Amino acid sequence: MGKCKIGIIGFGTVGKGIYRILNSQNDSHPILNEIEIIGIAVKHINKKRDIKFENNLLINDPYELIEDPNVDVIVEVMGGTDVSKDIILKSLKARKSVVTANKAVIARYGSEIYATAAKYGVYVLTEAAVCGGIPIIEPLKRSLKSNQINKMVGIINGTTNFILTKMTNEKADYNATLKLAQKLGFAEFDPSADVEGHDAADKISILTELAFGGEIIRDSISTQGIEKINIKDIEYANKLGFEIKLLAFSERNHVDINDSLSLNIWVAPSLIPKSHPLAMVGGVNNAILIDASPLGEIMLYGPGAGSGPTASSVVSDILALHASLSKKIPSIDPLLSSNYWRDCHIADFNQISKKNYLRIICLDTPGVIGKIGDLFGKNDVSIESIVQLDASENKAEIVVITHEVTNGKFEKSKQEINALSEVELIASQLSCI
Ligand code: NDP
Ligand code: HSE
Repeated sequence: MGKCKIGIIGFGTVGKGIYRILNSQNDSHPILNEIEIIGIAVKHINKKRDIKFENNLLINDPYELIEDPNVDVIVEVMGGTDVSKDIILKSLKARKSVVTANKAVIARYGSEIYATAAKYGVYVLTEAAVCGGIPIIEPLKRSLKSNQINKMVGIINGTTNFILTKMTNEKADYNATLKLAQKLGFAEFDPSADVEGHDAADKISILTELAFGGEIIRDSISTQGIEKINIKDIEYANKLGFEIKLLAFSERNHVDINDSLSLNIWVAPSLIPKSHPLAMVGGVNNAILIDASPLGEIMLYGPGAGSGPTASSVVSDILALHASLSKKIPSIDPLLSSNYWRDCHIADFNQISKKNYLRIICLDTPGVIGKIGDLFGKNDVSIESIVQLDASENKAEIVVITHEVTNGKFEKSKQEINALSEVELIASQLSCI
């Protein structure tokens, strides 16, 4: 095999990780020596960088790499959406395969990007875009292809899991821990994408398309972040035998009369029983549980962000491309490429069922728990538990956990409870599994 010549766009957390892997003396497979970096495009060419590297590799025009006939593969690790979309599409049109870690661009423009790659007979590989170092894209494309996927539920954002773990174990301050996640290179350039749940929504959108085979309208995914989580919710959840994690959920619902597969998809901070395997996933680690037939349940677990883990996924994609492209097969491999094979849609929010947690601050008066219970009952919402956990200065904190119920019925009950004269505030609402 000849060399695989790559142009890297971006030399930040992930870009530097790729450079380190390709220049390390690890006892890894000799095929790694066949990858040659032709150039690295950056935004600020004179920036001080905490890595020893060949200075003459840096350029500040990514398009130079796309136009360079010596470059076989473009590695997009710069982030953002508009410029990176243009870079990816232009690379594919120049018949260069692309490896990207950019979930934001794939979740929004995957359909156009996949179609362009197919049209020009090249690939776009995205292993690093979801769950950092965990191989999840490759299993969905190949190893699990003999199965019907029924459900995926996971912790797929490292930054929020890092924050929630520190808040749980050390009562750490939310803002200080977010700053630490940024310093460690876990968070996005704009960390609101992490804490507001959008990064996890991008990722579950990508996974859903691969698992269920149809295009997902990314912006229709119901998304709740962790920014309103209070240390009190964590303490109460712990007392009741749960951990709080930001979960991404995607489940087969039914095939409708138009032969379109309806899916329950959401991202929300959720209570998980302490005995559940996802409850043990701490720090920057991610995990995803997949229920498939006939396989059964599997869980993939590992570091979900950071330089080394993410770069390991990028480099694996480069190697897969190198191995495939060197075969010089005239048509593209249908399992390595991404395509849709059916129509899918997200089920109506009000029809999606789940368990819920509600923390209500109200007057500590006789009968208030009964009134709350009655309103839930009237709306056909069954309660798993209702407890008063704190009372001071005539105020009570009541925590309710429901059985599985449609969002429609739950939201109606919530509004009616909020209108009770004894209720001061619905302090928080979380999902449960
Ligand atoms: P960084 O912010 O650390 O690095 C971004 C790099 O892109 C910098 O080197 C920057 O240049 C360069 N860049 C920005 N704009 C341009 C431009 N217009 N032209 C050329 N270069 C440009 O980001 P990360 O490495 O953390 O993330 C990169 C991608 O990987 C993102 O899509 C992110 O979502 C994804 N990702 C990140 C993970 C992580 O743990 N960090 C994990 C999984 C995916 P300069 O250095 O000169 O400023
Ligand atoms: N910001 C992302 C996270 C990076 O924290 O999970 C990995 O995709």
